[in-house]
Amino acid sequence: MPKVKAPRSAFVCQSCGSHSPKWAGRCADCGTWNSLVEEQIQPQNPTSEFDRYGLASGSNKASLYSDVDMVTTARLPSGIDEFDRVLGGGIVPGSVVLIGGEPGIGKSTLLLQAAGQIASTVGTVLYASGEESEHQVKDRGQRLGIAAPDLYLFAETCVEKIIEQVNRLNPSLLIVDSIQTVFSSHMQAAPGSIGQVREAATHLLFMAKRKDLPIFLVGHVTKDGGLAGPKVLEHVVDTVLYFEGERHHSHRVVRAIKNRFGAVSELGVFEMTGSGLKPVPNPSRLFLSDRTANVPGSVVLSSIEGSRPILVEIQALVTSGVYGTSRRMTSGIDQQRLSLLLAVLEKRAGLNLAGEDVFVNAAGGLAIHEPAADLAVMAAVVSSFRDRGVRPETAVFGEVGLGGEVRGTPHAGLRIKEAVQLGFSRCVVPEANSAEKHPECELVGVATAAQALEELFE
Ligand code: TYD
Ligand code: MG
Repeated sequence: MPKVKAPRSAFVCQSCGSHSPKWAGRCADCGTWNSLVEEQIQPQNPTSEFDRYGLASGSNKASLYSDVDMVTTARLPSGIDEFDRVLGGGIVPGSVVLIGGEPGIGKSTLLLQAAGQIASTVGTVLYASGEESEHQVKDRGQRLGIAAPDLYLFAETCVEKIIEQVNRLNPSLLIVDSIQTVFSSHMQAAPGSIGQVREAATHLLFMAKRKDLPIFLVGHVTKDGGLAGPKVLEHVVDTVLYFEGERHHSHRVVRAIKNRFGAVSELGVFEMTGSGLKPVPNPSRLFLSDRTANVPGSVVLSSIEGSRPILVEIQALVTSGVYGTSRRMTSGIDQQRLSLLLAVLEKRAGLNLAGEDVFVNAAGGLAIHEPAADLAVMAAVVSSFRDRGVRPETAVFGEVGLGGEVRGTPHAGLRIKEAVQLGFSRCVVPEANSAEKHPECELVGVATAAQALEELFE
C-alpha cells in the first residue's frame, strides 16, 4: 500500500519569518515573544516556482551591461502635491509602494483620492479591496467627490484573481487594500499569516516589474507601530510610507521610511476634512497655529524633515515630583535623548533637576527625530524650570554634545529662511552655523549650552 505523506508543518515566526520544527514561547532568531504560529509547508518544486511567479515569460538570459537600454519613463503625477513630494516627485512606473499606518488614519482615503485623480488624468486604475465591499468603497468615493470613468473597483482577496483582472484591464495603477487580506491559492496558510503575505507580495512584485505597473499596497501595523507581517516585505518593496500623527488631530503626516526613488524622511502633510485629505502646503503655519507666545516652557524649533524645513513648537513642563521617582515623559521626542540632555544640563549648566518631573512634547503630534532639536528641548526645559518665557520672535536649532558643546547642523540656511518667512527675527544657532547671513534675521551663534541659556534668558 502506498504511504500517504502527512502534510508537513512548521512553526513560523510572524515577525521575522524564521521556521522552527517545535513551538517555543520566543523566536530563537529575532527574540520576539509569542510570535510562532503553526503553518503548513508545501514541498518546494523549482519548476512550479518558475511558473508560479510568471518568471518564465520574462527574458531568461543575462544581458550585457552595455546592451541594456536606458528607459527613462516619466513619473506619473498622483495629482496630490504632498503625496507626490513624499514619493520623490510622482509615481515611478513598475515600483511597489507599501503604505502603513494605524487603523482609521486615512490610508484608504488617500489612495482612493489618488486613484480618482490618476483615473481621470492618466488612465485606468484598478482598486482591489479586501476589506470593504465595492459599495463601501464607492460610498467613500462619493464623499470625496470622485467621478472618474476609468476607475475600477474589485472586492477580491485572491491574488491570482486580482492578477487576472490586471491582465484584462491593463491599468496604469493597481491598488491593493490591504496586503494582509490577500492570499494566494497556491498556499494553504490563512490570509494575513506571514507565508501568505510574503507569497502574495512576491506575486504582485513580479507582476509590477514585468508589466512596468506601479502598485500601492496598504499594510497594517502592529500594536507597537511596526508594519505587520514579515520584515522582508519592507525589503522587497521599493518605497515604504508611514502615516504619522494622532487620530485626534485633524492633520496627518505621511513620511517616507525607505525610498529607492527619492529622499527618505520626506514628509507630506495633510489635513483630514469632511471631504477627504487636503494637502497642507505650509506645515509650519499649521504646527505653530495654536501657540501662545511668551509662555514659559515653549520654544520654537526650526527643524528639517526630509528636504523641507518645518517650524515646530517644543513644549516642556517641569514640576516638582516625588523625590527619587521623578518622571521623564515625552511625546514626539526621543525619551533617551531627553534623559541625556537633562544630564548635560545638570553637569554643564549647573541645573538641579533630580527631584523634578519633566514632560516634553512636540506640539501638533509631529515626531522629531533629528538631533538638531536638542537645543530647543533644552531651552524649553529651562524655560519651564525657571518659569521665564523665551522672547517670542526667537527660533532655535542646534545639536548638543555630551560636553555641553553646541554642534553645527546641516541646512542652517534653509532653517533660518523658514523662520524668517513665519515672522521670526532672531535665531539662536550653533556658532558653526553663524556665518549664514540673512538680512531680516539677527543670528546669535552659541558654542556651548550654557552660553545658549545666557542668550535665551538674558
Ligand atoms: P480610512 O481611510 O478608512 O482609514 P484606514 O484605511 O487607514 O483605516 O480613514 C477613515 C477615517 O477618516 C475615518 O475615521 C473617517 C475619516 N474621514 C474623514 O474625516 N473625512 C473623509 O472624507 C473620509 C473619507 C474619512
Ligand atoms: Mg482602510
